[in-house]
Amino acid sequence: MATRHFLTLLDLSPDELRHLIQRGIAIKNGLKTHGPTYTPFANRTLAMIFEKSSTRTRVSFETAMAQFGGHALFLSPRDTQLGRGEPIADTARVLAEMVDAVMIRTFSHQGLETYAAASEVPVINALTDDYHPCQLLADVMTWTELRGSVRGRTAVWIGDGNNMCHSWINAARQFDFQLRICCPEGYEPRQDILDAAGDRVTLLHDPQQAVVDADLVTTDVWASMGQEEEQARREADFAGFQVSEALLDRAADDVIFLHCLPAHRGEEISETLLDDPRAVVWQEAGNRLHAQKALLEFLLLGRVDS
Ligand code: CP
Ligand code: NVA
Repeated sequence: MATRHFLTLLDLSPDELRHLIQRGIAIKNGLKTHGPTYTPFANRTLAMIFEKSSTRTRVSFETAMAQFGGHALFLSPRDTQLGRGEPIADTARVLAEMVDAVMIRTFSHQGLETYAAASEVPVINALTDDYHPCQLLADVMTWTELRGSVRGRTAVWIGDGNNMCHSWINAARQFDFQLRICCPEGYEPRQDILDAAGDRVTLLHDPQQAVVDADLVTTDVWASMGQEEEQARREADFAGFQVSEALLDRAADDVIFLHCLPAHRGEEISETLLDDPRAVVWQEAGNRLHAQKALLEFLLLGRVDS
């Protein structure tokens, strides 16, 4: 059977994704009730290649492997041959001889695809310039835990049409909810990704209008990793796109607010937004652990029913 990879949310069927969300919730409940006693990965190894910084992604994958009885290896281009020009496809072939799965955070999504095409073990996208699908597993899990089925509900993305926004678009397709994207002119998501989502996604430019009656509001930094020199220009261009308590007041009474983190208080969110009970970002961050355990289990062991 062909190796399954997780490069975008489109690599799994809607049914498989719904299973992962339920499985993540079950694994989380099991951990809370019994401690880390479920250890299906004895002697299994995950290689983690990080070409960009990370706190949540590294800690969640490394902890997931440890709690499952396996092991995770942190690999940086600074001290591997990847940083000295060894072709990524060669690295993929070598690692597949030794480890059970590979997780990659990198710049080029095409580079990730090249790696995966050469890998005989599952490859997981831990963020590229174009997508961040692991974050969406945790986000949909959090939304589901707090509000039940997300099908037919309305989420609003405020901010840059970036990697997170692209993954929200794919989530709207796969989990069948409505997504309103509200960004400044010139910061729209990629047209092909938008087009593929059809009428599940609408594009707006006025945050006050976009959030009305929304079930979920989310945003992200204005300048992503690799765009640091654009910070000043983006701060000017995104004026008026800050998510505040007052903006959330225009959404549904039971709205929740998500942010993949790290957050910049005073920029894309107000200074105090994360203290508002509608913000559930710590639960969301914690769910990276449980959702990714479900993903690793699925890719390495196949479907496990709770
Ligand atoms: N949200 C997220 O991926 O965080 P890190 O960059 O800290 O991994
Ligand atoms: N859009 C952000 C997400 C960080 C988790 C970035 O790519 O830097």
